[in-house]
Amino acid sequence: MSSRLSARVQERDARAIAHHYDVSNDFYALFLDPLMVYTCAYYRDPKGPLEQAQADKLDLVCRKLALEPGETMLDVGCGWGSLSIWAAQHHGVRAHGVTLSRAQADYANARIQALGLSDRCRVDYGDARQLPADTRYDKIAAVGVIEHVGRSHYPAFFGLIHTLLNPGGLYLNHGITHSFHWKPTSQTEFLYRYVFPNGDIAGLTETLVEIERARFEILDVECLRAHYARTCRQWVEGLQANAEEARRLVGERVYRTWLLYLTCSAVAFETSSLGLYQVLLQKHGDQTRGDAPQTRERLYVPGLDATPR
Ligand SMILES: C[S@@+](CC[C@H](N)C(=O)[O-])C[C@H]1O[C@@H](n2cnc3c(N)ncnc32)[C@H](O)[C@@H]1O
Repeated sequence: MSSRLSARVQERDARAIAHHYDVSNDFYALFLDPLMVYTCAYYRDPKGPLEQAQADKLDLVCRKLALEPGETMLDVGCGWGSLSIWAAQHHGVRAHGVTLSRAQADYANARIQALGLSDRCRVDYGDARQLPADTRYDKIAAVGVIEHVGRSHYPAFFGLIHTLLNPGGLYLNHGITHSFHWKPTSQTEFLYRYVFPNGDIAGLTETLVEIERARFEILDVECLRAHYARTCRQWVEGLQANAEEARRLVGERVYRTWLLYLTCSAVAFETSSLGLYQVLLQKHGDQTRGDAPQTRERLYVPGLDATPR
């Protein structure tokens, strides 16, 4: 094992992830979209359905990263593989996802195989911080991962991403922040005790300081807070619509705990106590690669439809 991460921290984080995700793939399927994206969607139509908004989010991330066929992309904390699969399928990259949940990795690899993408897409079970330090990628995304990292580990985390990128490579960090004047509440205590052990959220400015300290250039910052409020509301509706099946799968206690957690999250985003930012970064180095977008225009072209393929 690499000496970059102590065994104690690794075990603690693996336990925390297992607590959150071992409630089963079937349970999450009751309220997530068919691609099983477990992060903020992107509503090009503010009243649109979750399924389309998640497909649009995946494509937005790919466009921000200016993915080109044949490039290598690392999807840190890839969940059920949605972004890795989308990027390989629609943008022709060689995608490598890593998740700390074995159930997610098994699910993702079964889907990759069924879609015939095994030659350019794979998902590994493991800790991204244990990836070999000599591996290099053209592009990296971490969507919904920074919340699990812990503020004291930001320097090591952003430093590792920086190391893993080719010079001039792009990194998209998509994550929850708390508002500048935020203070812990009983809701926070509930969430960290019963839903996200070791969860730890920072403010945007604090995060950007660590990003700059790790020697990234900040190219673009976009607030998607309102989008996460609607995403959480749609997850709540989905879970309530499948309440009976949810109770059968995980029991009354877990069902109610997750319902409360998703509802609290919706309210926190609606009232701006939580935020959601996508931050696009570039590793200093070979700026002649020409990847870094000079305008936002390439982001606003017609999207792909959400039909799962
Ligand atoms: C909120 S989910 C987001 C999943 C996915 N990116 C998405 O958008 O659906 C967080 C993911 O981060 C993963 N994760 C957290 N810490 C990790 C680490 N150190 N190494 C690898 N994966 C990690 C979890 O296993 C989970 O898949």
